[in-house]
Amino acid sequence: MFRFSFPWAVLASIHPVSLRKKVIVPVARNSILILYAHPSQGRSEVNQEMVHDVEGTAGVTLIDLYAEYPTFEIDIDREQGRLRSHDIIVFQFPLYWYSTPSILKEWQDLVLEYGFAYGSDGTALHGKVFLTAITTGGAEDAYSHEGYNHFPLRHLLSPLEQTANLCGMTYLPPFVLYGSRTAREHNHVAAHADRWVHVLDLLKADRLNLAKAAMAPTLNDALETEGL
Ligand SMILES: Cc1cc2nc3c(=O)[nH]c(=O)nc-3n(C[C@H](O)[C@H](O)[C@H](O)COP(=O)(O)O)c2cc1C
Repeated sequence: MFRFSFPWAVLASIHPVSLRKKVIVPVARNSILILYAHPSQGRSEVNQEMVHDVEGTAGVTLIDLYAEYPTFEIDIDREQGRLRSHDIIVFQFPLYWYSTPSILKEWQDLVLEYGFAYGSDGTALHGKVFLTAITTGGAEDAYSHEGYNHFPLRHLLSPLEQTANLCGMTYLPPFVLYGSRTAREHNHVAAHADRWVHVLDLLKADRLNLAKAAMAPTLNDALETEGL
């Protein structure tokens, strides 16, 4: 049978602090793995800038899945090794048909094996944090019950949320840029990319209240509520 772990137990184990001369110092030990999936990077206006700003950042491993696996022959052992050696797993992608681009589905189907990611012995991902960084063509108000997409973004991503839950990971809501096709003309791209670097810094330094963030509709909302 599947084995579940509850986020609160997980959260308790991922807030390390070190005590030195009576000062509490947050330890930046949360390594981040970004699995980036964008099949037409030549036309990207937002994701490529986010990638550009993050590349080379200490503590962040950035994997371009389409570049690494142009024929979709995913190296399962290599991917599982990457997951084992990081604390925070990120899927970064443009929303395609209310879901991930196809390579990320293939990646999940192959890499999240029984006995590794789930099942009674499948505990490799327990205690890790999972989040998505997403751009959408649709505007924010389209992603509501009243809007033309009928569902909030977090709701549409529920298969990813439940996958993270089943694998014993703490799920955080998406860090999102809505209306990405007009973001450049509205000068929103650089600010969003800066914000993304800030989010990664907060996660690395354990400065985000994960329990609170996990409840928010988007990570952007959580940051705003927390004044971060
Ligand atoms: C095949 C395809 C499917 C798409 N599906 C959606 C969708 O379901 N919802 C949405 O809001 N935008 C959708 N879009 C728009 C993309 O999300 C948008 O072009 C992307 O977020 C822009 O990011 P970029 O500048 O990094 O390429 C789709 C685009 C393509 C090419």
